[in-house]
Amino acid sequence: LSEFVHKTVLLAEAVSLLNPVAGKIIVDGTLGGGGHSEALLLAGANVIGIDRDTNALAAAKNRLARFGSQFEAVEGRFSEVIARYSDVHGVLLDLGVSSPQLDVAERGFSFMSNGPLDMRMAQSGDTAETLVKNLTEEELANVIYEFGEERFSRQIARMLKERLPKTTFELAEAVKSAVPKKFWPKETHVATRTFQGLRIAVNRELGELADALTVIPQALKAGGRVGIISFHSLEDRMVKQTFKEWCGEGPDDLPRDFPVANVKPKFFKPVTKKPVTASDEELKMNPRSRSAKLRAVEKLP
Ligand SMILES: C[S@@+](CC[C@H](N)C(=O)[O-])C[C@H]1O[C@@H](n2cnc3c(N)ncnc32)[C@H](O)[C@@H]1O
Repeated sequence: LSEFVHKTVLLAEAVSLLNPVAGKIIVDGTLGGGGHSEALLLAGANVIGIDRDTNALAAAKNRLARFGSQFEAVEGRFSEVIARYSDVHGVLLDLGVSSPQLDVAERGFSFMSNGPLDMRMAQSGDTAETLVKNLTEEELANVIYEFGEERFSRQIARMLKERLPKTTFELAEAVKSAVPKKFWPKETHVATRTFQGLRIAVNRELGELADALTVIPQALKAGGRVGIISFHSLEDRMVKQTFKEWCGEGPDDLPRDFPVANVKPKFFKPVTKKPVTASDEELKMNPRSRSAKLRAVEKLP
């Protein structure tokens, strides 16, 4: 458990936006290593920490045990758990995977180490191996194109259906064979985007975010705030457009199938005009903070 270390992104920024004080109840929907939760608890707030990963939950429980009944851990998907509340003062989501998830080879998230092609945050549901096997070539290409923003998606999907990789290294090798070498990116591994696309699909990450955005308004008390840290443009776009909608600002250019039922105009106000990003100091210490964007809004009385 002591090896469960995740460098928390935008720690001071996220915590100050949520304004934690004694007596307030704040839901940390993505408990992970418990970094944000710990700071919220230290500031005096009561925290409900949610994670769908049994290992993360156990490690965070251990780390935060000293806070006693000030902290409660709940295992599950945040969209489903947040829906159970109706009077909390804050909700925080720090999306994506944690460093321990990426670093443990057996979890199958990374092309850096060899492991089973798993990629599940939770210990249930279909693995990436099963997904590759069950999707049609066209569906697989769409996943890699949409969620991975990979322009060689068709070639990669064809290769994956041919080889049906069982390990992370087999997946990485298949991508290498599918993309002509002269098109390999210089800064990143050629399989980065494919891994991202499959991971988002395996964990239904965009669906989770969309579902959470439909239940967060009713979970919050008036004056309550929600802060969301996203790591890629697909998530950030959803957060930005939904917050705009809640604040009654601007035209609605959401995707047509995006759920916005029961939302009345101007029942939130913006707390961040522009997304908050990592300071130079944080960027130096944690490369993962490079793409982090934090947006927050406050529910009106
Ligand atoms: C980036 S980490 C959070 C790190 C945490 N803020 C910290 O400071 O240590 C994201 C965590 O959220 C969890 N997670 C992601 N999506 C989830 C969802 N839909 N429901 C529950 N947990 C989720 C992952 O399992 C992972 O542990």
